[in-house]
Formats: sequence, C-alpha cells, structure tokens
Amino acid sequence: MSDGATSKAHSGSPWQAVALTLFPDMFPGSLGQSLAGQALEDGRWTLETVDIRGFARDKHRTVDDTPCGGGAGMVMRPDIVDLAIRDVQDKTGGKLPLIYMTPRGRPLTQNRVRELAFGPGVAVLCGRYEGVDQRVLDAHDVEEISIGDYVLSGGEVAALVLMDACVRLIPGVMGSGRSHEEESFEEGLLEYPLYTRPTEWQGRTVPEVLLSGHHGNIRAWRREQAEAVTKDRRPDLWKAYKAASE
Ligand code: ADE
Repeated sequence: MSDGATSKAHSGSPWQAVALTLFPDMFPGSLGQSLAGQALEDGRWTLETVDIRGFARDKHRTVDDTPCGGGAGMVMRPDIVDLAIRDVQDKTGGKLPLIYMTPRGRPLTQNRVRELAFGPGVAVLCGRYEGVDQRVLDAHDVEEISIGDYVLSGGEVAALVLMDACVRLIPGVMGSGRSHEEESFEEGLLEYPLYTRPTEWQGRTVPEVLLSGHHGNIRAWRREQAEAVTKDRRPDLWKAYKAASE
C-alpha cells in the first residue's frame, strides 16, 4: 500500500477507535502527540469518547454499586454500561469489535494487535472501581484483554496502549511499512540491539559488523542477537519460536 493510503480494510472509512469511559478527558492523551496525533489530525484514523456517566438516570448520576457477596470497592452497573454500549453500536453500525480492558483478560499480543489494526477499528470499554458487572460483558460477548500482569487504576491507560499499538500499524501512520518487519515480535523474537552514530561513545564502540557494509553478515548477526536476547529474557517466546521453526 502506498504511503498516502488510508486504512480501509473493510468499508472505505478510516480506522475507528471509540472509548467508553468515565474519564473522556484522558483521550486522546498520548495519542494526540507525535505520529499518531498527526495521523489523527490528517483523518487516517478517528477517535471518539462516550461518557458512560451520561447514561446514568438518577440525580446523582450514579454508575456503580456495591459488589454482591460483599468485599471492597464498587462495581460498574450493567444497566448503565449496557446503555453506553448500545449507543456505540447504534453510532457505528455494530461493526467494531467490543473490548473490555481488564487484568482478567487474555494477554494482548502483537498478533491480536495486527488483526485489530487491519479491521474496521475498536470500541474499548474502560473499567473503573473494581470493574464491570460480568452480566453486561457476557450479554454483549465482550472480548476481555489484559496488557500485563499488574493492576492499573482504570482501563483508560490500557485502552490507550491498545489503540497506540494498532494505530502505528495503520498504513501511512509510521511512514515506511518496512520498519515493522524487523521489530520485536514480528518473527516471534525480540528485536536485536540498535546503534547509531557516534561510532565511539564514552569508550563504547558500535559492533564492527554493523559498520562493515556486508548485508549478509549484518543480517546473520542481528538474527543471532535477537535469538540470544529472546532466549535469555523470554523463555516462553523462545520455546514457541523453536517449536515453530522445527
Ligand atoms: N485495567 C486495570 N489493569 C489492567 C491491565 N493490566 N490490563 C488491562 N486493563 C486493566
């Protein structure tokens, strides 16, 4: 695809991100900056927020209640979240995969990111408090995704992470598409180490092979380095890589 193309895997319209949140001001956040921000301004992708509190019906605009069975904190009510989800579905024609960011979700992978980036977009439900009532997630067959084994104070930052990972893959956002081919995870390996000028800095030199101009040797060296770092830091990825190459 040419550098000037817009992502339109499905319908001819730009990749569409919707955040369902109690904190709409957290968007676009970091996605308003740098290449993602420029691409947003250029209309290569769109971002909308839906304020879940806007669907509360009482005068206090309540969106949460205490957990059934007891325990700490509050839970987001299914009826209110349902209204927000239906609103998004009405506005988007129900074509966006609906994702709930939660540490209980399946871990996000570059493969899933790639699938989402080449689809029509994402609608991302951001939890606050202890989380969202399970019934509304089940009713809408929501995909639950985690960005790692730690707990954030809400789903918004996780949603920004997911959107960031997708947006940078939209054709034209990062400039040359080639740079994706060699980055971490693209071949099931972590990336090789990077160097630039000056060739000597504080007594540390750039590996000789990278200055040799010998592309075959450079490729082999990078592959060795990628394998070594993956084996050392990510035995899980290393095992999958070895299994795939056998
Ligand atoms: N919300 C809170 N913590 C999270 C995590 N680790 N991943 C996704 N969503 C979250």
